[in-house]
Amino acid sequence: MVHRILSGMQPTGNLHLGNYLGALKNWVKLQDTAECYYCVVDLHAITVPQDPQKLKQATRETAAAYIAAGIDTRKSTLFVQSAVSAHAELGWILSTLTPLGWLGRMTQFKDTKARIKYKANVSEEEQKKAAASIRKIVVDDVSIIPSDAKLGLFAYPVLMAADILAYKATHVPVGEDQKQHLELTRDIAGAFNRAYNAEYFPIPEPQILGEATRVMSLRDGTKKMSKSDESDYSRINLTDDADAIALKIKKAKTDADPLPETVAELEKRPEAYNLVTIYAALSDSPRGAVLEAHTGEQFSTFKKDLTEMAVAKLLPITEKMRRLLADPVEIDQILIRGEEHANALTQKHMREIKDIIGLWNV
Ligand code: ADP
Ligand code: TRP
Repeated sequence: MVHRILSGMQPTGNLHLGNYLGALKNWVKLQDTAECYYCVVDLHAITVPQDPQKLKQATRETAAAYIAAGIDTRKSTLFVQSAVSAHAELGWILSTLTPLGWLGRMTQFKDTKARIKYKANVSEEEQKKAAASIRKIVVDDVSIIPSDAKLGLFAYPVLMAADILAYKATHVPVGEDQKQHLELTRDIAGAFNRAYNAEYFPIPEPQILGEATRVMSLRDGTKKMSKSDESDYSRINLTDDADAIALKIKKAKTDADPLPETVAELEKRPEAYNLVTIYAALSDSPRGAVLEAHTGEQFSTFKKDLTEMAVAKLLPITEKMRRLLADPVEIDQILIRGEEHANALTQKHMREIKDIIGLWNV
């Protein structure tokens, strides 16, 4: 079987260190191991309200970040999801095989829904009610979903399954938070194969790689670093300059103790654990080795080293992104070439899929 990789990110806001260490850095490494397809998932982005002009620009910026981080378009196919019609088409087909109960269990839907309620400026009381009703979906009662929740937001993971299966991808490199969506994709692939008695889709494997599969907020070691966090001090953006990186690391929450000797001791201290994890991932070394080199150091000293490491690794990416965005025509041309390649493969698969299902295909 061909070893084929597909992954994507939403063009919503700036990419941050979590996106880079949890996903993008691994995508770059995997380019030499398989046939790789990397997309900007703009159809996923519109599951929450977007400004049309900003969305287009954010799509370009996300593509620029992929290239700046090291995606080599001679090795990998880089494209925009909405330019390849098979994603939405297969999404519909797969939605006919996906039980609502499977979708109700997805935590990302719950998080997003809670966030929208929060942003809509509703009272705290109402937010709590919404959060409670969202939690209840887990017990499988789909009728509890707030009636204003959009179908597309709920069906988001089915589109993600289609992104992957349209390519018959075998491996999907993502951060830890996407594990549940990947499990759903595997279930949907199995449901299709069983429903049509065809061994058509490979069951894709998640690739959750490296030391930083879940980078946490710099303000709260128990919360994921995320684009949607209110505080910009919670994350390092790929567009931050050296001063911003230094300030954010300096202000990052830590405890008063020095760096411990063992990873087991570190695990009891979420903020300390997060900073050491970030250092380990940036420097491509295991957490244990970072501790060995810095044991007993105060965090004020370690943070200086971490800042140097982060600036050295991230600034070249930021600068390349800026250069690329100065000439959007070049990025657009790369995306058009990628789109043609992605369309060629997925159209072939769509013809086979239609044939299996008995859809009109003459
Ligand atoms: P976000 O979660 O920031 O909105 P996306 O949902 O578009 O970003 O995620 C794109 C990729 O980045 C996914 O593979 C996801 O698992 C990964 N990712 C996002 N946040 C983190 C994080 N804090 N740590 C590790 N990986 C992350
Ligand atoms: N759902 C992913 C996220 O929120 C993004 C995504 C969409 C994706 N389609 C994908 C990731 C296909 C991997 C493969 O981060």
